[in-house]
Amino acid sequence: MSLSTIALLSLLSSAAYGFTNDWTQPCFDGQCAYSTDLGSFKVVGWGSPNAITDITAAAGWEILNCDPNALTQDIRLVCTNSEGCSHFYQSNGPVGKLVRLPQNCGGSAFARISRNWVHEDQSLPANLARSLRRRDGTTPDVQGLALDTDFAAVDPAQNGNVSIAIEGSNVPGAVGNAEVTPAPARRSRLRRRGFLKDIFNKFNTFDKNITKDLPPIDVTNQTFPIFEDKVSCPASGSIPAFDASIKADVVANAHAVISLGAAATGTIIPPKLDEFGVFVGLNADLKGTLELVGSASGTADSGKISLFEVGVPGLDFPGILTLGPSFKIQGQATANLDIDANLSVDLAYHVDNAKLFFPPSDDAASNGGFSPLDSPLKLSVSPSVNSSATVAAHLIPTIDLGVSALGGIAEATIFLDLDASVSTTLSLNAGAVASVTTDGDKSASADVNGCVDVGAGFDVNAGADGSFFGLFDKTTQINLFSKKFELFKKCLGTSTSTRRDLEVRSLPTAFYHHKRALACPALDPANLVSVAEEAIPADSIAAL
Ligand SMILES: *[C@@H]1O[C@H](CO)[C@@H](O)[C@H](O)[C@H]1NC(C)=O
Ligand SMILES: *[C@@H]1O[C@H](CO)[C@@H](O)[C@H](O)[C@H]1NC(C)=O
Ligand SMILES: *[C@@H]1O[C@H](CO)[C@@H](O)[C@H](O)[C@H]1NC(C)=O
Ligand SMILES: *[C@@H]1O[C@H](CO)[C@@H](O)[C@H](O)[C@H]1NC(C)=O
Ligand SMILES: *[C@@H]1O[C@H](CO)[C@@H](O)[C@H](O)[C@H]1NC(C)=O
Repeated sequence: MSLSTIALLSLLSSAAYGFTNDWTQPCFDGQCAYSTDLGSFKVVGWGSPNAITDITAAAGWEILNCDPNALTQDIRLVCTNSEGCSHFYQSNGPVGKLVRLPQNCGGSAFARISRNWVHEDQSLPANLARSLRRRDGTTPDVQGLALDTDFAAVDPAQNGNVSIAIEGSNVPGAVGNAEVTPAPARRSRLRRRGFLKDIFNKFNTFDKNITKDLPPIDVTNQTFPIFEDKVSCPASGSIPAFDASIKADVVANAHAVISLGAAATGTIIPPKLDEFGVFVGLNADLKGTLELVGSASGTADSGKISLFEVGVPGLDFPGILTLGPSFKIQGQATANLDIDANLSVDLAYHVDNAKLFFPPSDDAASNGGFSPLDSPLKLSVSPSVNSSATVAAHLIPTIDLGVSALGGIAEATIFLDLDASVSTTLSLNAGAVASVTTDGDKSASADVNGCVDVGAGFDVNAGADGSFFGLFDKTTQINLFSKKFELFKKCLGTSTSTRRDLEVRSLPTAFYHHKRALACPALDPANLVSVAEEAIPADSIAAL
């Protein structure tokens, strides 16, 4: 590609978009920009000068009453400069035009004008009435305007299509309202793909320096119950009646900083996006400690349950494009016990500068550093029994982005799942039993004959749950990371390592709760002996 081609491409992709809005300038030439003062959101619309009009002060209008947040409302306004106001009436009049709204009027940047009339309330503030009073003593009529974001109701045949380009980020200043590119006289259509590519490249440069001031999400030592099942066991011989149970909790810790960006191009009239992309950046430390105590035999399965959810301040350009993110933690544990056991294991990961570009693009690759952290493990079991118990757990921090565009005509949810799992498998043989040892004595593990395997897995996937202007749908999937790790493997007593293959169970997709009736243990409730009490430092965790 020659230098001049590159220059031309960058000119094309920024031509329609690159100018900033200036609230002191009316937009009468068919191209209007709206951006926020913080410089994190910009929307530009362009079409025929008859298709877009302006009711800002620069265009000659004074707004008399207007709700700053409503998307659908009737407002009152009066013309203060008849030369400027003539643009509003030109061609077929204001109805069916798109209008750029002043910053303090309406929740959206642009609205559709569905009705215009001379308002029944003609009152004006005294000083405004004084300054607008003509020689003959009259004042201009107070106008009524009905505004909404039902862009699909505009007939494009009336004034032609209106194109749109949108860029936003939750990182203050990222969109850069400061850049000044003079508006070119003639605007060509945005080069397809060029715009999104430029914006993705910008998001790709976000690093911790840029996102450090974003408010983090913190979850500190919060305990979430996963399941608790009980069975009453009758007295038998010298053993009094007791309750046997399986109980699992997760203690979660998370510190996450989420950066977001979005860009789109298309037409607002008629409403259709032909290019759309979101960016999610994540820096996080995530830790879930699974604590499982079981004295009953049987299977318990929590199904996939939602443990925690919090809304994240997102990108909201009401009526145009809304990205409503939430941070969730989902969990699931399954236990298949035939032995008394007490297990505590950490699932701890560091996420360094993970970047998701969605839908997948050749211009910017989704990636990130995902690495396990120190993962302490404690396991005690009843001695002198055969066992093939398994315990598996998933902790799934998820970022969900609810996307809604152009007056809500298209909606979808994009998700980023960080599925951390751990699976513990016992293969114990009662075998030859050593003499009874005192509780707490490390040599107690001599009473346990067999192997303990603890495997972990981490899978990071992104996808969507709906179709969005045909740009992506639920088949659009990205795998950012997938690895299995061996956390711990130990054989005790006379056993040699004849371990079963590690199996990290995948979650059923359906949301269900399933459990099988528990049974009382075959043996007396016994004192547990420790078979593992390990620090498992991060650097010893080997990928499989
Ligand atoms: C107007 O926009 C629609 C939808 O984006 C598109 O299909 C159509 O070709 C456009 N018409 C013109 C004249 O550009
Ligand atoms: C982040 O900021 C520090 C200090 O201002 C600087 O030394 C470092 O190079 C920056 N990192 C990047 C990736 O820009
Ligand atoms: C969270 O729990 C850990 C382990 O019990 C403890 O060391 C730490 O101080 C706790 N942190 C807070 C903020 O309570
Ligand atoms: C399980 O182990 C934890 C920590 O090792 C301990 O505090 C707890 O009392 C044990 N629970 C049972 C029922 O043995
Ligand atoms: C343990 O299993 C072995 C072989 O599978 C069997 O011979 C033995 O009786 C079992 N012991 C107990 C206590 O169930």
